[in-house]
Amino acid sequence: MSLKPQDRTCLADLIGRDAVISVVDEFYNQIQTHPTLAAPFSAVHDWPGHKEKIGDFWWVVLGGKPQAPYKYDPVGKHFAAGFNSNLLEDWKQLFKGALDSHLDQELANKWFSRVQMIGENLLSQNERLINEN
Ligand code: HEM
Repeated sequence: MSLKPQDRTCLADLIGRDAVISVVDEFYNQIQTHPTLAAPFSAVHDWPGHKEKIGDFWWVVLGGKPQAPYKYDPVGKHFAAGFNSNLLEDWKQLFKGALDSHLDQELANKWFSRVQMIGENLLSQNERLINEN
């Protein structure tokens, strides 16, 4: 017997909103002094607003309902920020550290596999833009 979609507990509920917010908070605090990531992230001027937006982004990626009607343009913004595969590797390593310090291993790994998927996607969309320009 399989579960109906509405009976499945989504990753967002297993992790919980507070933990999502804590991971995002720690990650973006660390990014501001990171050797390679601080420079592209100097484009961010409103850190509380950025953290709130990205907290909601992850909440929805993990299966939760959006809390605010944010509009995203990740591909365009990352292209403008100089996104590339080296920065992505540094970003993922830092994010993994934040996940591991707030979540048990199983939940951290599940969230990280979504990071990997989105990262791959951003990279291929970014390369498409580079080839067009
Ligand atoms: C899997 C990896 C990543 C994910 C899931 C991710 C996700 C996001 C999202 C959802 C936004 C908000 C976009 C919007 O407001 O429309 C954002 C903004 C941003 N990201 Fe990433 N990102 C990743 C990796 C990176 C990397 C490697 C860089 C390094 C260049 C980067 C730099 C930025 C910057 C600077 C902004 C702010 C742009 C702005 O508001 O002008 N991100 N990211």
